[in-house]
Amino acid sequence: MRVDIISVVPDLLNSPFAHSIMKRAADKGLLEVHVHNLRDYSDLRNQQVDDYQFGGGAGMVLMCEPLAKAIDDLQSRYRYDEVIYMTPDGKTLDQRTANRLSLKENLLIICGHYKGIDERIRELYITMELSIGDYVLSGGELAACVLVDAIGRLIPGVLNDETSALTDSFQDNLLAPPVYTRPAEFRGLKVPDELLSGNHKKIDDWRTQQALERTKARRPDLLQE
Ligand code: ADE
Repeated sequence: MRVDIISVVPDLLNSPFAHSIMKRAADKGLLEVHVHNLRDYSDLRNQQVDDYQFGGGAGMVLMCEPLAKAIDDLQSRYRYDEVIYMTPDGKTLDQRTANRLSLKENLLIICGHYKGIDERIRELYITMELSIGDYVLSGGELAACVLVDAIGRLIPGVLNDETSALTDSFQDNLLAPPVYTRPAEFRGLKVPDELLSGNHKKIDDWRTQQALERTKARRPDLLQE
């Protein structure tokens, strides 16, 4: 998968893809992330990319022209399955959307900053608008990192044990069951007998039961879906 990201603060996007599972995905040739500085597409003095909003009010807006130029340039070279704008008023990202996007070939992600981007860019170019939750970040960059991480680990071949994504929280609208590692007893707290039994049916049944109980207690809304 190739992911292009357009941002006014490209440095915010360097580190998250350079480590751990995202790095492994890149090393295996399964995920390529390319970050583009919006200022490189500005024809104005000082590489200006934002301006005051019509109608007044606090906060700058990313202007149409540099964004259109950047998107046109990238679209002339790659065919994107989705052009995604990260915004708090988008659809909330969930595991189902991450699963669906992990099967795509090329994604273009636009990060807003300040008050956001000119509405006309949304009308003309954006095919999907995603939020990572009901709170406002300084820009879309951290949200884009969250999105690419959630998608990247689902690309077939990225995780060592292919089944491990299948047992993540949310994959069946259930939270994941508790997990333990050595030692079998820590400060008087014991690992449940079922997990030490060596009986796979017993272990699976215990995990399913725990997942259900945890979901019922913490996220009953998931069970209603
Ligand atoms: N940009 C600012 N806040 C955001 C959020 N919650 N999700 C996605 N993009 C954002």
